[in-house]
Amino acid sequence: MKVTNPPIASDLMATARSFGNYDLAAALSDIIDNSIQAAASQVEIDFQYFDNDVIVRIRDNGSGMDGETLKRAMRPASSNPGTARDPKDLGRFGWGMKSASLSQARILTVVAWQSSNFVAARWNIDDITDWSMDFFEGGEAVSLLDRPPKSDSGTEVIWTNSDRLKESADSVDADELSTVVAMARKKLSLVFHRFLSGEAGTKLSITINGTEVNPVDPFVTSHNATQTLDAETIQMTGGRNILIKPFILPHFSKLDVVQQAEVGGEEGMIRNQGFYIYRNKRLIIHGTWFRLIPHGELSQLTRVRVDLPNNLDEEWKITLDKSDAQLPSALKSRLLKVIKKFSKKSVSVHRRKGVSTHIDNVEKVWCREVKNGQVIYKVNREHPLTRSVIGQDGVEAVLAMLETYFPADDLVKDSAKGVTQGPSDPCQFEYLTKQFFFKYLNDSNEEERSLENFIAYIQRVEPFASQKAYASSYVKENLAIYLK
Ligand SMILES: Nc1ncnc2c1ncn2[C@@H]1O[C@H](COP(=O)(O)OP(=O)(O)OP(=O)(O)O)[C@@H](O)[C@H]1O
Ligand SMILES: [Mg+2]
Repeated sequence: MKVTNPPIASDLMATARSFGNYDLAAALSDIIDNSIQAAASQVEIDFQYFDNDVIVRIRDNGSGMDGETLKRAMRPASSNPGTARDPKDLGRFGWGMKSASLSQARILTVVAWQSSNFVAARWNIDDITDWSMDFFEGGEAVSLLDRPPKSDSGTEVIWTNSDRLKESADSVDADELSTVVAMARKKLSLVFHRFLSGEAGTKLSITINGTEVNPVDPFVTSHNATQTLDAETIQMTGGRNILIKPFILPHFSKLDVVQQAEVGGEEGMIRNQGFYIYRNKRLIIHGTWFRLIPHGELSQLTRVRVDLPNNLDEEWKITLDKSDAQLPSALKSRLLKVIKKFSKKSVSVHRRKGVSTHIDNVEKVWCREVKNGQVIYKVNREHPLTRSVIGQDGVEAVLAMLETYFPADDLVKDSAKGVTQGPSDPCQFEYLTKQFFFKYLNDSNEEERSLENFIAYIQRVEPFASQKAYASSYVKENLAIYLK
């Protein structure tokens, strides 16, 4: 005997909130995947505060949906993961739009339009008895939008009662939210960089609250010191190919501060070395060696791009939230071979450049002295910023302590891996430039005080000297106002 035994709607949908391990960026990415799939060239994401709630609207100018398609799309498990997909399809499970949205909010509303036909549907996990879903047509559907659409067709995904983005049921922590949104912006820059740059086909524009998300290329391919090694193709059964392309990044000191922050980020270069796994050009995971080698064994400059088609999802065990995958064991030895082949090369790039970027006639932050064959590093007391505090109580003692207990042994031990000591965020560099500028305003006399003189001056002082172009454009764009 068989009996029908369906799940209780509210229980299943409440559980769906925990499918995958979505953070805000991963949730937005799953929604953007659908927009790309619908051939959208523009995705506008807006965070709005309303009545102690955070409302998130993700609007695209893709194909939109008609009523029947929307009803099917809203269905949990709207397709079978085993079904073959179009080779360019970014979807797999038939869950993304629902699970990603509900991971952040309790109410998911989707409005779609094609020409002047508007339809909308809504799941509210607190009001879902017997799978009853709100459905709207025409004017009712249009009224759910906060502004008229500009494109002929499109879709807007709306999250309301966004409890996961709120501090508590009745309050929103604006600072916390803006930090979370800024982090999501950074991740989207990386996850979709090949779409944002146009490399993956039609150029995609993503905005968050009106500001464009810029692509971040983790291989800095536009830099002429980036080395690209030969690409390899691993052929799997059924003509399914995996493309592998190793890159050796320019030494950290050759990057400007923005690039340093982008490729190093807060986690640093070492954490970001490794494989970058793309599924249909969309980044799934990065900065892993899949335990083939210990992290940090290879030069920090090594990054390997791995391009997967979407018909290897099962072998790679792509997760529902598209932010994890497992290396199929049959590929382990192949990938290890790839790593071994280029590892020597990357270490030598690092060692060669890692010694020092010596710039003559520049006031350094540190001085290197050789006495009786022994090398000693000392803080340069002639550096204008150091000079300005010398003579103050305790400064000399602090400098002497820093020099005496300089972690030379650790530095030597770490040198093969590469030590990334630099700003993890351009703001740190900009802050220093600004402080230096204020000091210049104070110290210089009126006749010689000018933007040009300041720029010429900082070209002879570290750390500005090794960031000439960036420093001078920052000064021109941001500090000129102080001289008026
Ligand atoms: N922005 C959109 N424009 C047009 N159709 C969409 C859009 N978003 C979703 N859809 C439709 O809804 C369906 C379900 O989307 P959903 O993200 O839930 O699953 P999926 O994309 O098929 O698979 P996955 O779970 O891997 O994301 C899509 O297959 C598509 O037909
Ligand atoms: Mg999807």
